[in-house]
Amino acid sequence: MSNRVVYFNGEFVSESEARVSIFDSALMFGDMAFEMTRTYRQKPFRLRHHLERLYGSLRLLEIDCGLTIDDMERLTLATLEKNIPTESDDMDWQIMHDVSRGPLGIYKSAFTGSIQPTVSINCWPLITHTGGFAATYETGIDIIIPAQQAVPAHLVDAKAKTRSRLHYQMAQLQAARTGEGKWPVLLDPDGFLAEGTGNNIFLVKDGVIFTPEPRNILLGVSRGATIELARGLGIEVRETNLGRLEALMADEIFCTATTFALVHAVRFEGQAIGDGKLGPIFQRLMAAWKELAGIDFVAQAQDYAKLLPEWEAKALVGR
Ligand SMILES: Cc1ncc(COP(=O)(O)O)c(C=O)c1O
Repeated sequence: MSNRVVYFNGEFVSESEARVSIFDSALMFGDMAFEMTRTYRQKPFRLRHHLERLYGSLRLLEIDCGLTIDDMERLTLATLEKNIPTESDDMDWQIMHDVSRGPLGIYKSAFTGSIQPTVSINCWPLITHTGGFAATYETGIDIIIPAQQAVPAHLVDAKAKTRSRLHYQMAQLQAARTGEGKWPVLLDPDGFLAEGTGNNIFLVKDGVIFTPEPRNILLGVSRGATIELARGLGIEVRETNLGRLEALMADEIFCTATTFALVHAVRFEGQAIGDGKLGPIFQRLMAAWKELAGIDFVAQAQDYAKLLPEWEAKALVGR
């Protein structure tokens, strides 16, 4: 059993004791907002941006979690502080917020007291995530368009980050069927590029960066940071509608997300992108990202990859 603790409905409990009820609306409807933040050098990266997005998602879902955003921030930092000593000093962390409206009212007799929203904050060592990802920084990704489309904003707004994610799961299953390591990027119902199942996409053409307009996509915190960095470097960024053709004609393609920050693509729908190597704009952005993060997170992921088998073996023994 790990020594990690989780903030769960008003108290800190051991990770193995944090359990969501089978009657929870999250289980019944995928009715839960969530966030995934990471640390760099054990400090949360843009936590406030993540929490603002969380509180936006909660407003959309009409969930009052009973905590102010300042409370949530304080509790997040407290949860992280309690977990940091369980690992070595060079461990970075994933911080996950999960909030639902709680168990459905029809089952209230199964609970003592009134039904409350379910609020949890957990911290997980990033070694499993970025250690497992390290090789991808080298190889780049191979993007395919799955049959599954993105859900348009007029049905469910993708700008809210919710656990209602069956369409992403279907896209992943379809991508996996086309070959190992394929990355799905979903089209929206108008045939424009939307996003990956957990990342945003960028194209580069003639020195200009293009990314899908903020319509049928999650506005990634890393997407925002990338746009800021690019503009800071004097690179033009356009948010616009992009199709398969623009992707096939791009000089560079890359994706962004919290865990890995950014990764380049080498193929799109079976065709090589540019010369198939790291593009110059991507390289400038990667350098700027490392400076922003205050750490060479690619080297860190490579170190984690080496340590991962031992870390996992220890975690098993600890059970
Ligand atoms: C569907 C989707 N798009 C994009 C992203 C990237 O967002 P961020 O950069 O905030 O991690 C995520 C992250 O999980 C996601 O789930």
